[in-house]
Amino acid sequence: METPLGPYDVDLWVLDLDSIDPALVDRYRGLMSADEREQERRLQFPGGPERHCCTRALARTVLSHYTGADPRDWVFTTNAYGKPGVARSAGVAPRFNLSHSGRLVVCAVTRDAEVGVDVEHWREVPKAVELARRFFARPEASVVERAPPARRSREFLRFWTLKESYVKARGVGLLVPLEGFFFHLPDGDPPSIGFISPESDDPEAWQFAEFRYADSYQLALAVRRPRSRPMNVSLRRTVPLCGVPDPQRLPDTPLRRWDVGNR
Ligand SMILES: CC(C)(COP(=O)(O)OP(=O)(O)OC[C@H]1O[C@@H](n2cnc3c(N)ncnc32)[C@H](O)[C@@H]1OP(=O)(O)O)[C@@H](O)C(=O)NCCC(=O)NCCS
Repeated sequence: METPLGPYDVDLWVLDLDSIDPALVDRYRGLMSADEREQERRLQFPGGPERHCCTRALARTVLSHYTGADPRDWVFTTNAYGKPGVARSAGVAPRFNLSHSGRLVVCAVTRDAEVGVDVEHWREVPKAVELARRFFARPEASVVERAPPARRSREFLRFWTLKESYVKARGVGLLVPLEGFFFHLPDGDPPSIGFISPESDDPEAWQFAEFRYADSYQLALAVRRPRSRPMNVSLRRTVPLCGVPDPQRLPDTPLRRWDVGNR
């Protein structure tokens, strides 16, 4: 059955690999294309094949949730920089982006807006200041440097996921120089972006959100949607092929940080 996605909706689907019965992974493999099964054979690292099957199943079942298509029927393509999209479908296919880290896989979906998502497993970053100086824009590196030592890793990962979400939404990899744009993280307001060269992009054209998941993961979402327009973000925890739970609508418009672990 089709579930419409409104023009202002952004659905953020979250799959916790620890909630997967191992027997399901074989069923997920049955949804995959020959190419995806070949990719799985090349993944030699521990947990790689499982995560690959679960990620493919998440993308396929999530897209089918909106269109009613059989999850096996989706044909994917990648652009020149590796960003996946739908190659062809019977109707209009939503836009999506995937990210995985640790035991979490996430899939962000919009009706037609460019979208990027990033998740990072929370960890201490011992060289946060050096890494920020090397890879971030000057204003971001200053925030990390000025943070009390106990908060530096957290600030670093917030910038990191936001920057990655924007790069992934643009879909052109490191053609977007990481030091060429920066985020403001005002207390109680959504993150906003700035550009060192004003001609490189329009800061008013983008909306961002960041989340903490279960106190273990930092997530960021980038959507090319004018800041003047509403945006309804829903969080959906799911296990592919095991039904679709009701969404938790994230309550803030404009977007704010939302600590999912507190719900
Ligand atoms: C390709 C790239 C975006 C992947 O990022 P990552 O953090 O290693 O991995 P994630 O789990 O977040 O994302 C991987 C998924 O993104 C998608 N993806 C791959 N290339 C992509 C691209 N160019 N644009 C958007 N999405 C892409 C794929 O679905 C992939 O998962 P899959 O292989 O299972 O299908 C990343 O390697 C990259 O180019 N980064 C450049 C920016 C950078 O170095 N940022 C550092 C932070 S400041």
